[in-house]
Amino acid sequence: AVSIKVSQLLAQMTVAEKVGQMTQVDFALVAAPKDKLADYPVDTAKLETAILKYHVGSILNTPYDQAQPLATWRQISLAVQQTTAQSRLKIPVIYGIDAIHGATYLKGATLFPQAINMAATFNPELSFQEGEITARELRTAGLLWNFSPVMDIGRQPLWPRLWETYGEDVQLASILGSAYIKGHQGNDFAAPDKAATCLKHFVGYSFPITGRDRTPAWLGERMLREYFLPTFAAGIKAGSPTVMVNSGEVDGIPGHANYRYLTTILREEMGFKGFVVSDWEDIKRLYTRDKVAASPREAVKMAVMAGVDMSMVPYDFSFSELLLDLVNSHEVPMSRIDEAVSRILTVKYQTGLFGPAQTFLPAAANFATPAAAASNRQAARESIVLAKNAQSVLPLKKSANILVTGPTANLRNVLNGGWTITWQGSDESVYPQDQPTVLEALKTKATGKIGYVEGSSFDTVKDIDKVLAELKNYDYVLLCLGEKPYTETLGNIDSLALEPAQMQLATAVLAAGKPVVLLMLGGRPRLITPIAEQAAGVVLGFLPGMEGAAAIADILYGDYNPDGRLPISYPKHANSFNHYDHKPAEAFENNTYDPLYPFGHGLSYSTFVTRGLTLEKNRLAMGENLKLSVQVANTGPVKGKETVLVYLRDVAASVSRPNKQLKAFKKVELTPGQSETLHFTLTPDDLSFIGVDLQRLIEPGDFTVMVGNETAAFSVAP
Ligand code: IFM
Repeated sequence: AVSIKVSQLLAQMTVAEKVGQMTQVDFALVAAPKDKLADYPVDTAKLETAILKYHVGSILNTPYDQAQPLATWRQISLAVQQTTAQSRLKIPVIYGIDAIHGATYLKGATLFPQAINMAATFNPELSFQEGEITARELRTAGLLWNFSPVMDIGRQPLWPRLWETYGEDVQLASILGSAYIKGHQGNDFAAPDKAATCLKHFVGYSFPITGRDRTPAWLGERMLREYFLPTFAAGIKAGSPTVMVNSGEVDGIPGHANYRYLTTILREEMGFKGFVVSDWEDIKRLYTRDKVAASPREAVKMAVMAGVDMSMVPYDFSFSELLLDLVNSHEVPMSRIDEAVSRILTVKYQTGLFGPAQTFLPAAANFATPAAAASNRQAARESIVLAKNAQSVLPLKKSANILVTGPTANLRNVLNGGWTITWQGSDESVYPQDQPTVLEALKTKATGKIGYVEGSSFDTVKDIDKVLAELKNYDYVLLCLGEKPYTETLGNIDSLALEPAQMQLATAVLAAGKPVVLLMLGGRPRLITPIAEQAAGVVLGFLPGMEGAAAIADILYGDYNPDGRLPISYPKHANSFNHYDHKPAEAFENNTYDPLYPFGHGLSYSTFVTRGLTLEKNRLAMGENLKLSVQVANTGPVKGKETVLVYLRDVAASVSRPNKQLKAFKKVELTPGQSETLHFTLTPDDLSFIGVDLQRLIEPGDFTVMVGNETAAFSVAP
């Protein structure tokens, strides 16, 4: 029925109306002056120009790079609807927003842990809840399209958007990302509490060889197919109706000009039916930056013909004007325009935008609720990794006297990272004061003395002498290091090494001899090797969101038993980045996989034993599933959650295979002494790989399953 409505509508549209649908502009183009925003956010004349004259299909972004109150969003939403209602065909505008860890551009929204943390939970249920809550909060403001989740694989630790990914593993990212989409969209994203998602950034964006954002990636076809496409396939399967394009280039072809990726692979092979939106100004960049187009006009033609359906322009109407001209001069066929517009209109029907006038989900029951805060707190707790706990220094007694020092101890923004309230997330003054910092969260629980001396900012030594002088009054030091918030090119760095000022603070504190617990906050695994060797405890917090500080205090004091696991390999040395699923050659002769902490690492205050790995059979016919089971027991003193990871190795194959690959995982909560049998099923797809001829296949032969310290063998018959 939707396709009939779409074709009927399309038949009535002029070419100008069609190219308008393919245009997405920034809110700045229709915004009231900043000082008038609170009265009425929209400049009516400008909005009419955008919608009635240029027929824009979409608007994005938050006004003035700042989270806005619900009332402002509702005014924006109504203004857009009312203006659309005056247009000839009354085609609704779809508003897009980066609500990447909660509805971050809505004032007071629930700010979840960032994706790297969600991955560390190894808990798809929490990712589902994040999706659900985010969509709900967006719908209280009339927003129903979210540029999330990032389905890029995080295998380049320097990249300033690593923390926006679900880490280095394909299976983990696919499962967590799909769970998020299902929570966000439900079975029908037109439902009043659901919203559409966007898979980004197709494809290969996350793997720039320099580590700098929007610089070239070089992906062989096998790597593309083994590591970079499967997460997007999972996102498409989960029902995401939109895809955003990689704003860098792969193998010399900019994402926005890549017909093979955007059409042959995404559409014909992967069966994606929704619409493709460009990233920020990236069509123009085919001319201004990449020099693959000789003019802005040629850039538009290239991108549209490659498969971009909507252009995130963002500040003018040049895209529509150029595209109109290209259509009129028959350089872009009408059939391609109709295809793109049909896809956009279809998604608009699916989101319910053509339905009855929009009603806003009531805020009281749906926005920043106690239930959302509880889910967020649990996500934050499960996203924090206890990496080292020598002589059980943790948990600390609440009566312990702790000196807190370092640049991340008393800031809110370091818990949240980029895309929080503002684009860079760095303006500390805009964070709600009821969100505690780490220091404040500790103080709410402590009965002992909590002191604080900053010691050093991120890059400048401050009062290390004072830290050392104070030390004698305390039992422990909590050394809080890390990174300030950033995203995209503004987060580029030359090295993962911590700034000398932070190293100087760490060295001085460690030399003083008091037990030190290192807490790292930030989006990338900055190098901490010498500090971690000497510190008694190491806690990796990444970007745990607005409940993050409370969750850290829960863990430091033992009110919560840590269960987060690393979703990336934490490097030990500068320039030695490798991944857990390394090739045999990376563990042969003098080569090793030797990170500081491996993928999947994470300690608990309890102990768990996994044993009794049993395969249902040891010989499979081609195409058969393999069932297996394993027992996990809590053998320690406290209740806790354990994640059981099932790895597979293809013993010999025509293409060199990883030493192991994660195929399944389950997280269970067990009380002391309790045990549980876990069941898993490996599918033929789990046994497959990309062969010599670049096709996915299963080769008969031997396989090894690895769970905990146990292994079991099976073979696949020819
Ligand atoms: O969604 C983002 C994208 O991830 C990076 N460039 C800008 C887009 C819209 O804000």
